[in-house]
Amino acid sequence: MKFYQLTREQRLDKLVAAGFLTPAARDYLWQQHGLPETLATHLTENPIGQYTLPLGVAPGFIINSHEYVVPMVTEEPSVIAAASHGAKMIAAGGGFKTIAQPHLAVGEVVFDHADNIDYFAQQLLTQRQKLWQVAVAAHPSIQKYGGGLRDLQIITLAQRFIKIIITVDPQKAMGANLINTMCEAVARYAEQIIHQPALMAILSNQALQSKASAQVDVPFLALATKNLDGKLIAQRIAAASDLAHVDLQRAVTHNKGIMNGVDAVTLATGNDTRAVEASVQSFAAANNQYQALSTWQVRDDYLHGELTLPLLLGVVGGTITALPMAQISLAILQQPTVEKLMEIITAVGLAQNLAALHALVTDGIQRGHMSLHANALAISAGAHDDEVGKLVTLLHQQPKMNLTVAKKLLKQLRQHV
Ligand code: MEV
Repeated sequence: MKFYQLTREQRLDKLVAAGFLTPAARDYLWQQHGLPETLATHLTENPIGQYTLPLGVAPGFIINSHEYVVPMVTEEPSVIAAASHGAKMIAAGGGFKTIAQPHLAVGEVVFDHADNIDYFAQQLLTQRQKLWQVAVAAHPSIQKYGGGLRDLQIITLAQRFIKIIITVDPQKAMGANLINTMCEAVARYAEQIIHQPALMAILSNQALQSKASAQVDVPFLALATKNLDGKLIAQRIAAASDLAHVDLQRAVTHNKGIMNGVDAVTLATGNDTRAVEASVQSFAAANNQYQALSTWQVRDDYLHGELTLPLLLGVVGGTITALPMAQISLAILQQPTVEKLMEIITAVGLAQNLAALHALVTDGIQRGHMSLHANALAISAGAHDDEVGKLVTLLHQQPKMNLTVAKKLLKQLRQHV
């Protein structure tokens, strides 16, 4: 039986047998815990309840010859199915080749309207060594772990602002707290040199220094459908990619498909989805022209795909360590380094994109979407576990599928029992 045809219990058992889950994690997942009460009441402000989302897995990711089962949290039906479909087509060509730059975080201390900005920028420059020491002293423990300050630059901007830009290796953490602490310490010291308060001292979510790339070569045969030849589909996917590079309307949707996968793994691993979105979307507009993030081209007898993403992530710290589900997700990913997680997330984005384009240029997405949408409709209509399957079958026989139809069919179904 295929993975998606198994029951939830069988899936969990299979993941344990394959070494992707420990028996303890399996039991935890089986019991379907919400957040521990103390965590739920202290994680955000004014808590009144918990808002849970399903954790699913996309199996079959071969990344640099290593097999991964990818945990994904999403409320959107068909995202996980599409990710595994993309991964399966890509596996036929040997999988993903990925690479990541070292994970570094950047922060900025900004002064506005410093009188005579060139003079003060020069003053700061002469004190660069001292500013460096202040930054290091603000968070000495990071040196012990092999991380710490890697660069400190002073620049002026628009004849108005002075910026001190620091680059830090935060090791396994995303680095937001670390960098904000260092920036604030540097700001306080620099204020004494400039004789005016800093405008702000904060991490930059532009993660250009930490990019990951994924490349794939998908054989035509792996793309073929019952009705269409793989080479033709490859040409159509390449055309869809070209379109997304010249059409803003399409580029945004193309990238949304990529982010379906990126956000789902980011969330599953307890990382900051808003930070990832902000960074990736700014990268898409890097040339002052918002563009598709990925590229697909026909080469010889395969389809070549590439995706590069700037990602600021962590594998420890803050919520990542506190959230049991994030811990389980990282365990399923075999405790990746931050760089490996960046590569996995980029690979998922590319697989997600391939599956979307493949569906769009062949059958369209509605067919697959609607079959999964039927499940959501059946549940929304109030179907019990043992009724969902029957109701979904009935929904598929209808010319139109919506909640009113689902409720009507459920009523009929119950009358006939
Ligand atoms: C839907 O969530 C995502 C797609 O629209 C992406 C795309 O069009 O490439 C299918």
